[in-house]
Amino acid sequence: MPVLFPPEEFAKLKEYLVLYRCALKNMTTRMDILLEDYGNLQAFNPIEHVKYRLKSAESIAAKLHRQSCPLTAESAKANLTDIAGIRCICPYAKDIPLIASVLKSQSDLKIISEKDYVSKPKPSGYRSYHLIFEVPIFLSCTKETLPVEVQIRTQSMDFWATLEHKARYKYQDEMPAHLAHELQECAERIAELDQRMILIQELVDIAY
Ligand code: GTP
Ligand code: MG
Repeated sequence: MPVLFPPEEFAKLKEYLVLYRCALKNMTTRMDILLEDYGNLQAFNPIEHVKYRLKSAESIAAKLHRQSCPLTAESAKANLTDIAGIRCICPYAKDIPLIASVLKSQSDLKIISEKDYVSKPKPSGYRSYHLIFEVPIFLSCTKETLPVEVQIRTQSMDFWATLEHKARYKYQDEMPAHLAHELQECAERIAELDQRMILIQELVDIAY
């Protein structure tokens, strides 16, 4: 049975979600501008593509329930920082710190949290660089700031995370040990391949 917000809280949440959608737009525009600028400046773009999503009311309710938080719009605002989320997919692992530092240098963004799961992968094998920014949005009468989570990863890290997420979901967090182990091993191989690809790319680069 899905967990649901009471009707009056659902209506309030829908109003909040409009603000989160605006913050997400603000952040995707920043990514678009970087994509354009890098495309203009150099042959290799450190951004392969950008994906984004707004968490659905159903997923918000499920996460609040998992965290034993009240099922209210205020509680969603107070307890969740990933209602608006962006994934920046980079061609090479060396592009990850570059994009992270470019975003961190945007003076109107406040950094709420920064987690480097590339240097320090999760026990699952998960690798990505996570940043949560407080994004300003200017409304008709007021200024609001809302959190947007940015995950920066390579195409291969994304490939892995998508499959691992699917497996985790299917097994409801009780993944068979052999599968978890196989995924950990694949994550390590992927990290190794990501490094080898950088070397090949650099060799190809100096060959011309
Ligand atoms: P949640 O994991 O969302 O509850 O937030 P948190 O505060 O624990 O932050 P964390 O940085 O651990 O994870 C945030 C997001 O990163 C998740 O919602 C996932 O999108 C992703 N993530 C973290 N760990 C894993 C993992 O082991 N596998 C996969 N596939 N994704 C992960
Ligand atoms: Mg987590």
